Amino acid sequence: MTRIAVRGDLLDFAADPGFLPPSEAPGVRFHPDHWLLIDSGRIAGVSASEPDESWQRIDHRGKLILPGFIDTHVHSPQLDVIASYGTELLDWLNTYTFPAELRYADPEVAAAGAERFVDALLAHGTTSAVVFPTVHKVSADALFASAERRGMRLVAGKVLMDRHAPEGLCDDVAQAERDCVDLIQRWHGRGRLAYALTVRFAPTSTPAQMDMAAALLKAHAGTYMQTHVAENRDEVRWVAELFPEARSYLDVYHRHGLLNERSVLAHGIWLDDNDRALLREVGAQIAHSPSSNLFLGSGLFDWQTAEKQGAQVTLATDVGGGTGLSMIRTLADAYKIQALQGMRLTAFKALYSATRGAAQALRLQHEIGSFDTGTTADIAVWDWSATPVMAHRIGLARDLHEKLFAWMTLGDERLLAEVHVAGVPRFRR
Ligand code: GUN
Ligand code: ZN
Repeated sequence: MTRIAVRGDLLDFAADPGFLPPSEAPGVRFHPDHWLLIDSGRIAGVSASEPDESWQRIDHRGKLILPGFIDTHVHSPQLDVIASYGTELLDWLNTYTFPAELRYADPEVAAAGAERFVDALLAHGTTSAVVFPTVHKVSADALFASAERRGMRLVAGKVLMDRHAPEGLCDDVAQAERDCVDLIQRWHGRGRLAYALTVRFAPTSTPAQMDMAAALLKAHAGTYMQTHVAENRDEVRWVAELFPEARSYLDVYHRHGLLNERSVLAHGIWLDDNDRALLREVGAQIAHSPSSNLFLGSGLFDWQTAEKQGAQVTLATDVGGGTGLSMIRTLADAYKIQALQGMRLTAFKALYSATRGAAQALRLQHEIGSFDTGTTADIAVWDWSATPVMAHRIGLARDLHEKLFAWMTLGDERLLAEVHVAGVPRFRR
């Protein structure tokens, strides 16, 4: 039994701060210069005074300690195409992404890619993620194995795609079903891993493949479903041509039985009121991916309307459409997307959404996303500043929100000092 106490400025959230002004936001739990107690890999409490000798003490005085970030939508093989020039979604897939993903049929490429990816997540302060590998079963095996070795909470599944893609990226319904069943049996519920039926997006799956995925989703309790929806206007038009019977893009997934409270839908920029009502009804979440939406020119996601109408919204990097694995930069981009629409995202709401909010939307709040007693000790220790300009600005902040807002607007992974996964140090600068 190991007892660890980590000293620093502790910040987590007990409830959703919503879109209220900072001074009225509920749920903020800030304990400056306190001790976070970790017993056998779990949070055991918060203490104002130094614990006794039975605790191993780690002094991060003057640093910010947060729950590890949760990235709800990211593609592990796409570190190979991040920052590729000049295209919108459909051309970007065909020009850069599909050719890059073809290489992951090779077990060595898949294994090396998975290791590189999970280490990169940790080096950005992200301790949990919902991930797309590639269509190749070996890429899912490699990803689960890499996460397991580091004790990380990971939700993932082999990508399903049986049309409108290069031959080496297409499966077929029968083989895909065998692969999914085998992967579910070997990985779902093992340690901190969960399986997600992973329909890439409606254009690359036949109706028969979506039906197969829905049957597995129903048959295996606790499995997730992840996909993309309503990201790009040309994509939305294409889906309307491919599925003329559906009321909307989201309705395609609904008709095929793919929506429930464990569905993670990336983007959702071009949804309408009926779609948002459907999201509320089924309890699904939108993984808002601001840097990707800006980089691929996809559009501006209306977060407040989505939430007003009952959809849960989490935050994601969507690498490699997104331009980096930093959730801090993602928060800053999210603020700018709301600002372009005349709305304001507080640092409280942004940080909540990347921690407890995501945990709640994934139905994992008993395990991750906060410093609640009994949750798994996935924590990240951050410097308050990384440059003279940042130190100057943070030093002038008059209250906690101003300080956190400057931190998230100016910061990135260079602030990261240390990461613990289930109480075990997994990254140290
Ligand atoms: N839609 C279908 N596949 C993808 C992908 O890999 N990235 C993004 N951003 N959108 C997609
Ligand atoms: Zn994506």
